[in-house]
Amino acid sequence: PPVTIIGAPTDIGAGHRGARLGPDALRIAGLHEALVGRSVDVIDRGNLVGPQNPWLDAVDGYRHLAEVAEWNRIVMEAVYAELSIGRMPVMLGGDHCLGLGSITGVARHCRETGKKLRVLWLDAHADFNTSQVTPSGNIHGMPVACLCGLGPQPLTHLGGDAPAITPDVVKQIGIRSVDPGEKQLIKEYGLDVYDMRYIDEVGMRRVMEEALEGLDENTHLHVSFDVDFLDPLIAPGVGTTVPGGPNYREASLVMEMIADTGRMASLDIVELNPVLDTKNATGLLAVDLVESLFGKSTLMRD
Ligand code: ARG
Ligand code: MN
Ligand code: MN
Ligand code: MN
Repeated sequence: PPVTIIGAPTDIGAGHRGARLGPDALRIAGLHEALVGRSVDVIDRGNLVGPQNPWLDAVDGYRHLAEVAEWNRIVMEAVYAELSIGRMPVMLGGDHCLGLGSITGVARHCRETGKKLRVLWLDAHADFNTSQVTPSGNIHGMPVACLCGLGPQPLTHLGGDAPAITPDVVKQIGIRSVDPGEKQLIKEYGLDVYDMRYIDEVGMRRVMEEALEGLDENTHLHVSFDVDFLDPLIAPGVGTTVPGGPNYREASLVMEMIADTGRMASLDIVELNPVLDTKNATGLLAVDLVESLFGKSTLMRD
């Protein structure tokens, strides 16, 4: 389908400022041109407008709850509107709290069209914290929990009824930093986590086969790509680096195997923080991997 680029320039949910510059860093890295190069019909609607980042301490376990809710409402409407006219939204964050709005919009579209939803959450973190167990109060550590109905009412009920999704639709890949209370909740909710240890043991190919198992013509595949998924040696431009992530070849395989399914119908690219990057290298890498998501391959036998 044709693609719509939507910028969401905010770091309202993060512990560092700078992800608000992510959309323009991705544009300057050539995202639009790269998609055109893949023969994708693409329009860029520019940046959404939302509240400023007040940069305050946590209140009752949340930083900037009202502003986070407002940004996510704006993102949800924008993503939903593109899906409604048959386009594939590519939401450029911004921090990962925006995955809540994006996926709530996607889930609403799926309910209305009778599609099955599968979410691939590519991340170093599980983002399954609550106000009780968060070490930071940063809401970018909470969107998956909120989507599953665990969190404050303004975030869990963004799309009307809660929960927006059930935990079984989410497959998390690349996870290597989970807070103690968060780990407990992930087990309770039965989330499918393909952590780095499992990736080391069985290899990325088998991980992706398992995470993509059971997709069919009626599946809407959403990819939520937190750039800190990647090893910080190749992707330093993020606020929350964790050593020991997928390397370039592993990340390319992830993207190529997603492309092979032909089911990707929406995408988030989040947490790119150009202030922390070196000459936009992380932005350029993200664009390279997006090309793989849209079919660029090093396969000779295709
Ligand atoms: N688990 C940590 C926290 O909740 C870090 C979360 C990082 N999340 C992200 N989307 N980068 O504060
Ligand atoms: Mn559709
Ligand atoms: Mn994340
Ligand atoms: Mn992360």
